Amino acid sequence: MADLLLINIKSLEGIDESGRICKKGSAMQDWQTLANAWVWVQTDIIKAYGTMDNLPEITAPYETLDCSGSLVLPSFIDSHTHIVFAASREEEFVMRIEGKTYEEIAAAGGGILNSAAKLSKMSEDHLFDAAWERLQTLIQWGTGAIEIKSGYGLSVADELKMLRVIKRLKAIAPIPVKATFLGAHAVPMAYKNNREGYIKLIIDEMLPAIHAEALADYMDVFCDQGFFTPTETANLLVAASKYGLKPKIHGNELGFTGGVQVAVAHQALSVDHLEYTGEEEIACLLQSDTMPVALPACSFFLGIPYAPVRKMIAAGLPVCLASDYNPGSTPNGRMGFVLSLACIKMKLTPQEAMNAMTINGAFALELSDILGSISINKKANLIITKKVNGLAYLPYSFGENFIAKVLVNGKVISGVQSF
Ligand code: NIG
Ligand code: FE
Repeated sequence: MADLLLINIKSLEGIDESGRICKKGSAMQDWQTLANAWVWVQTDIIKAYGTMDNLPEITAPYETLDCSGSLVLPSFIDSHTHIVFAASREEEFVMRIEGKTYEEIAAAGGGILNSAAKLSKMSEDHLFDAAWERLQTLIQWGTGAIEIKSGYGLSVADELKMLRVIKRLKAIAPIPVKATFLGAHAVPMAYKNNREGYIKLIIDEMLPAIHAEALADYMDVFCDQGFFTPTETANLLVAASKYGLKPKIHGNELGFTGGVQVAVAHQALSVDHLEYTGEEEIACLLQSDTMPVALPACSFFLGIPYAPVRKMIAAGLPVCLASDYNPGSTPNGRMGFVLSLACIKMKLTPQEAMNAMTINGAFALELSDILGSISINKKANLIITKKVNGLAYLPYSFGENFIAKVLVNGKVISGVQSF
């Protein structure tokens, strides 16, 4: 395959040759750029880059892509999604407009249980087709690696069905896909009065079956009020660790419920949501390598608080941003919109927000060695923007599609969709 030379790049953004695997505190503002640049992509790898006054001599055959007026960025890493689902849930959206809360709807059998009922009726093939379509759209919107959770099955058969869909997506997707088992997303109807029984089912039946088919990379629990307690979460995480599944958990979305503490106590790779994060949670995270992940599109859609990421950064923590794409709390996976929300609502600078969605996202998926920055020998999963003034235009122009082309494994993916 011919090499590819990107030329006349207005600004090459997010360069990092330091070898660091995440950026914390004030270092989240570090965002190295090179004006009037070129990038040499060899097969699927960033081979070299430099400025146009110093173009390399490439002897192998190569194609040229003129990037005049464009920024070239590392692709977004979306470390938290639920893109395998059967149906949208706009009826609940209307209920919330009329005054019901997310928790009230869930307690009445809506929410996650509504999605589980619909998913149990859909075939694996049909679920796969729908998720594959979503994934292709996300790639065109600049997502260059993704995590996908189960959690709308809530029975042995249906959790396995979801995870098999994710395994098929992994096999076919051009970008890295990580699979997370979220059997403990909600207590299903059949176990309404027997939550211990459901936890036992997860531990005794789901985990061994998932292990036997190598269906998961990580273990998630929705540790929050009305869902799973910290003690239940701890038991589930201990059971999962026996199968080598590291925790990535949902915590502190609905209250100060101990999710952060249990995540840190079990060396979670990340703890995600964090809308309710105070001094105690920050102090706890500072003692750990657990990545705090904020999901501003969920806060936007549900009208709940935004995670206090400015306070976290001021305390010296790293922050990651992800989409949380799912039919209940975040029916959109566009990372460009997450970028806008992070700047507009959470007051991150464009540079901090970009680090949160690239290098820190790669950390949250254990992909820092291959993705997350413009670095020699990392994978050429890149975003080429339309002609723009500079980085700040991207979050500023909220809702606009600022992407002209995406490169995945060094190849242009055509047909970027606009709104
Ligand atoms: O991350 N909070 C827990 N789970 C999902 C929402 C699930 C749903 O409502 O379907 C989330 O927001
Ligand atoms: Fe989620």
